[in-house]
Amino acid sequence: MVAGDPPERDQGKRLLVLGAGPAQLGLLAAARARELHVIALDREPSAPGFRYADRRAIVSTEDESSIERLAGAERVDGLIAPGIDWPVAIAARVAERLGLPHPISPETAMLSTSKLRQRERFAEAGVPQPEYVVCSGAAEAAEAAQRIGFPCVVKAPDRQGQRGLTLVGSAGEVEEAVRTALDASRSATLLVEELVPGREMTVNAFSVGGHFFPLTVTDRLTAPLPAFGVALTHVWPSELEPAEIGAVVEAASSAARAVGIENGPSYTQVLVGPDGPRVGELAARLGGGHDAELCRVALGVDLNGDALSAALGEEIPATALSPVAKVGGACVRFLVAPPGELREVTGVEEAFALEGIRGIRIYRRPGHRFGELRRGADRAGAVLAVGDSRDEALERAGRAEGIIRFEVDVEALV
Ligand SMILES: Nc1ncnc2c1ncn2[C@@H]1O[C@H](COP(=O)(O)OP(=O)(O)O)[C@@H](O)[C@H]1O
Ligand SMILES: [Mg+2]
Repeated sequence: MVAGDPPERDQGKRLLVLGAGPAQLGLLAAARARELHVIALDREPSAPGFRYADRRAIVSTEDESSIERLAGAERVDGLIAPGIDWPVAIAARVAERLGLPHPISPETAMLSTSKLRQRERFAEAGVPQPEYVVCSGAAEAAEAAQRIGFPCVVKAPDRQGQRGLTLVGSAGEVEEAVRTALDASRSATLLVEELVPGREMTVNAFSVGGHFFPLTVTDRLTAPLPAFGVALTHVWPSELEPAEIGAVVEAASSAARAVGIENGPSYTQVLVGPDGPRVGELAARLGGGHDAELCRVALGVDLNGDALSAALGEEIPATALSPVAKVGGACVRFLVAPPGELREVTGVEEAFALEGIRGIRIYRRPGHRFGELRRGADRAGAVLAVGDSRDEALERAGRAEGIIRFEVDVEALV
């Protein structure tokens, strides 16, 4: 990649990035290309994003006091938490306490990191969303599930990446789903929701001064059960009709307004059922599935760069948010490894040489133990592909996926 000279405004600026895992790779690479001084933190010493950092700190992305100390000691000019939920609120609070610029307030960050608090706010603001009931135990949840009907969804209100999430098919499955949700929940509460059947879209957007700029609107294609809700592909453009896409964008925009996002990136999941769009959830951050990289190849908008600018309090010109279709179609296809201990990954270079393959990320190193696919964190990597059409991008991604092999030792599991 040709990085070019870093913008002068960035020279000497110091940025703290919360997380150095798969979901932060794109932003970290972009920060490195801009020659920012990057301090990355992650509790996992082998986190793949550390290779882009000038300094690495083995600190949990949820350890607020350590993060504040580190930000102070490193005299950073800004903090950012791309692709992960809970640390978004930590970044906003620490920025406020240290008097650093930040795109969102702690209040907005808190609303956007709680599925429950945002549901309440959406209800007040009239944002369309699935029917939901807040519960604290099995009896309440059983009653709520009966009222909502089966199948329904039980989830922890303050987790991401399918942790604590269950699709519940019948009354007999409620108890176990409640246990799963409460085990994951930070708050001793859980949500029982109507299952919105149909499609699911992601709206990647960026706000400047209260103006919401929608960028890539992608179809989210999910894994077969039991990996409920785990994305295997994000593909652009959506197959929906333009008018339906317009309604999806309107729903995402109203959700962003409701939680008070006036600046910076947002990532909104919209379920499109028979009664129109319903906002599944919103996050005040970049998506964690290479959404910014997809946006860049599809529309020429550098969402990673814009998010970096926002985190450093720099002005973002409207030209930085003007989409121009660069290709006919683009997709991110996630890779899944067979269960076992990873020995090696082969075929990556060969796959990268295929036409239309713009990026490949491998998330894990040899020695990592893969289990069955259940959640987002179980995925093994991703391919970014483009084509003249959505179908061509998907086909090319599939070809690359077929060449990349995760060699695992199965015995190591026992
Ligand atoms: N009420 C719902 N109706 C339909 N699908 C849902 C519902 N809730 C969750 N899902 C599916 O599960 C996925 C993950 O749920 P979500 O609430 O976004 O939590 P998280 O992304 O934090 O795991 C969604 O993207 C969607 O595919
Ligand atoms: Mg989600």
